[in-house]
Amino acid sequence: MKFHITTFGCQMNVHDSDWLARALESRGWQAASEDEAQVYIVNTCSVRDKPEQKVYSELGRIGAHLERDENVFAAVGGCVAQQVGRGFFERFPHVRLVFGSDGIAGAPNALERIAGGDGERIALLDFISVYEERERPEERTVSLPGSRQAFVNIMQGCDNFCAYCIVPYTRGRQKSRNPDAVVDECRALVEAGVREITLLGQNVNSFGMDKGGTGDSFADLLFRVAAIDGLDRLRFTTSHPKDIAPEVIRAFGELENICPSLHLPLQSGSDAVLKAMRRKYTRGRYLDIVDGLKAARPDISLTTDLIVGFPGETEADFQGTLEMVERVGYESSFSFKYSDRPGVAAVNMEPKVDPQEASERLMRLQTLQNSITRKCLKNLEGVHSVAFIEGLSRMQDGEATWWKGRDPAGRIINVAMEQSEGLEGFMVPVTVVEAKKHSLVGQRNGEPW
Ligand code: SAH
Ligand code: SF4
Ligand code: F3S
Repeated sequence: MKFHITTFGCQMNVHDSDWLARALESRGWQAASEDEAQVYIVNTCSVRDKPEQKVYSELGRIGAHLERDENVFAAVGGCVAQQVGRGFFERFPHVRLVFGSDGIAGAPNALERIAGGDGERIALLDFISVYEERERPEERTVSLPGSRQAFVNIMQGCDNFCAYCIVPYTRGRQKSRNPDAVVDECRALVEAGVREITLLGQNVNSFGMDKGGTGDSFADLLFRVAAIDGLDRLRFTTSHPKDIAPEVIRAFGELENICPSLHLPLQSGSDAVLKAMRRKYTRGRYLDIVDGLKAARPDISLTTDLIVGFPGETEADFQGTLEMVERVGYESSFSFKYSDRPGVAAVNMEPKVDPQEASERLMRLQTLQNSITRKCLKNLEGVHSVAFIEGLSRMQDGEATWWKGRDPAGRIINVAMEQSEGLEGFMVPVTVVEAKKHSLVGQRNGEPW
């Protein structure tokens, strides 16, 4: 069978899709282009209205492929699948499987059954209460991408119920993975050549604080993974500020392979709005964390998520957000207009902010962010760094070949080299010679290793 996966949403979804592709390939299925696929899998995101709407238009768009042959079918997974469930069967006749993020473990079997069967439809929408181990290190290493970077899941779901967020409803309760399984998987990856690992979860700082917990905290796990011999770079995402432990802050100063960057969603710079959002921290507490991080690791690059136009947000509240963005000096941020999601607490909160007003706030915020981003990148000119090469750069000019890499903080850094092939996965010592709008230009100043 030939399959094609389209993925929307966060890194957890991307990681789930990678897992599904590996699981299908290990059963003899083949990844294929849209034109050739017999099974279309759409892994969906529901975090705002826009990505949800994209799923329907995507299913409409691939409808033409699906009509060419009655044995060709579609499957819908992820957060919108969990939310809409069997509703997909009514709206889209070619959808034969829906699976939520907990149901994904059963998706390969279900797809095989449907492919070999008689028009059966399957819904895998049950939540599970403990993390179901589904990684098989042998499968992982077989299809290891050349880039030598890997994502490792440490938990599923979320228990926070921020007032605006649908994630706890679509991904279910928090379920931590067994820390030994995480460490084993990381070790197997490093032994197979991986040099950079990103630990993934909706709220990694509360790792272990649920039924699946074994007493190991996130800090314990972080120190264990960082100690794996041969692991050059370690990242983790996402961090909820309310749960970040002093040991995790300390780790940035103590562990050499922890990358100097942290995504720390602020959401709003107003205490009143943070309270209504149920974020469980204040501006003051957030700034203490930031000061601690900067003390532990002065070159740390901070990034964040921000929401404008949350119900009840006043101009003064919004000013608070602008102030915080300036005070923290985020190197970049994702900012969103508040979007009502079905079933979340904020749906019933009033007054709603006028959409025009929210758009204007978003623009003002993004203008401020762009100027801070520019300054942050400009400050890096002349700095010595190391680019971890991911592949060829899109920009090519002159005789040398331009390669795209990332510095330890994750910034894109393009470097011109004589070699035109074979540098993926190498570390190249560089000096930053120019800051572009969203990336850096580096000049090689040592041998690749
Ligand atoms: N678990 C992560 C992020 C999950 S969703 C965390 O808590 O940090 C990614 C981002 O989408 C959130 O940080 C938030 O900024 C945004 N978001 C979530 N729900 C939203 C909504 N209803 N409207 C607008 N933005 C939203
Ligand atoms: Fe989208 Fe959130 Fe689900 Fe990720 S967890 S796929 S961002 S809704
Ligand atoms: Fe969870 Fe993040 Fe929402 S921690 S409740 S997903 S904003």
